[in-house]
Amino acid sequence: MKNKFIKAAAAQAIRPGSMQRVSLDGHRILIANVDGNYYAVDDTCSHEDASLSTGSLRGELVKCPLHGSRFSVRTGKAMEEPACDDLRTYAVRVEGDDILVALG
Ligand code: FES
Repeated sequence: MKNKFIKAAAAQAIRPGSMQRVSLDGHRILIANVDGNYYAVDDTCSHEDASLSTGSLRGELVKCPLHGSRFSVRTGKAMEEPACDDLRTYAVRVEGDDILVALG
């Protein structure tokens, strides 16, 4: 099935090393800019109900503000406990100044 890309944010609004939470079709998605590449994962931590957008981004790792688990925004992988489950990742495309995300 072909992914449907939805406009999610303005590329200029998310500088390298920063991230932003967006709401797409009722899904809370985190978009992160790692060295000019954009990645999209679930914004809600897989451990409990915390918004990863209020955590910190170092390289491709976002740190949960609540208990400190880190996840790769590139692969969604949970790197350390207490979170065990990976984040869902979403395909990202940039067109002009628009960041488009496919919910799949
Ligand atoms: S809520 Fe994110 S590590 Fe606990």
